[in-house]
Amino acid sequence: MTRTRLVAGNWKMHGNRAANAALLDAIVRGLGSAHFAEGGVECAVCVPFPYLAQVAERLRGTAVAWGAQNLSEHAQGAYTGEVSAAMLADFDCKYVIVGHSERRQLFGESDGQVAAKFAAARKGALTPILCVGETLEERDAGRTEQVVARQLDAVLGKGEFGDAVLAYEPVWAIGTGRTATPEQAQDVHAFLRKRVTPQTRILYGGSVKADNAAAIFAMPDVDGGLIGGASLVARDFIGICRVAERKG
Ligand code: PGA
Repeated sequence: MTRTRLVAGNWKMHGNRAANAALLDAIVRGLGSAHFAEGGVECAVCVPFPYLAQVAERLRGTAVAWGAQNLSEHAQGAYTGEVSAAMLADFDCKYVIVGHSERRQLFGESDGQVAAKFAAARKGALTPILCVGETLEERDAGRTEQVVARQLDAVLGKGEFGDAVLAYEPVWAIGTGRTATPEQAQDVHAFLRKRVTPQTRILYGGSVKADNAAAIFAMPDVDGGLIGGASLVARDFIGICRVAERKG
């Protein structure tokens, strides 16, 4: 089964117009143009809402796609501070991250709300990147599979997964410098794979860097990465994209 690998940057709440311009220029220059996409790897950046216009303008016509990090489950209306799927589509977003562990943990997003956001993204013709992952406490208690299954099943119970992307991000590996071992990642990816389709891309996320990406991406059920910290440094992000390119 050939799946186009995906390396998606998650800028989180970082950046400003000047820094973004420099980062985007360096990424576009570093990755080259269409040639890269032909290598079986797609690259994308998921950026804060206020910078979507800037990013869309800079990346249009390049091999790099873009998206957002969250969306509202509602289509429109009196929801102060929220951003709808249609608004993201208006800026030609391809992707939107849904259910990142920071949204779940810091902003109280429930499985049900994540499922509603996932459905809203699909309805709005966006490709959701659904994040699932266990805490260290859950892993230590032997509950990893139970937790990721619950998170994924909440979404599957509401409709088709379609061409959405799944991202396994162990919470204990995010921003900690501690990655899952390639075998730990592969075990969970293989478990998740049974619940989706053979075509579904499953990314690994959590402290992926240019120097550990090769071992993780070499696993058969790992189809790329969701990259936080390293996506803010052009050289590192490009390096990770190049590793994904070599996998094929
Ligand atoms: P990290 O973040 O690469 O900085 O660990 C990954 C993520 O939160 O998506």
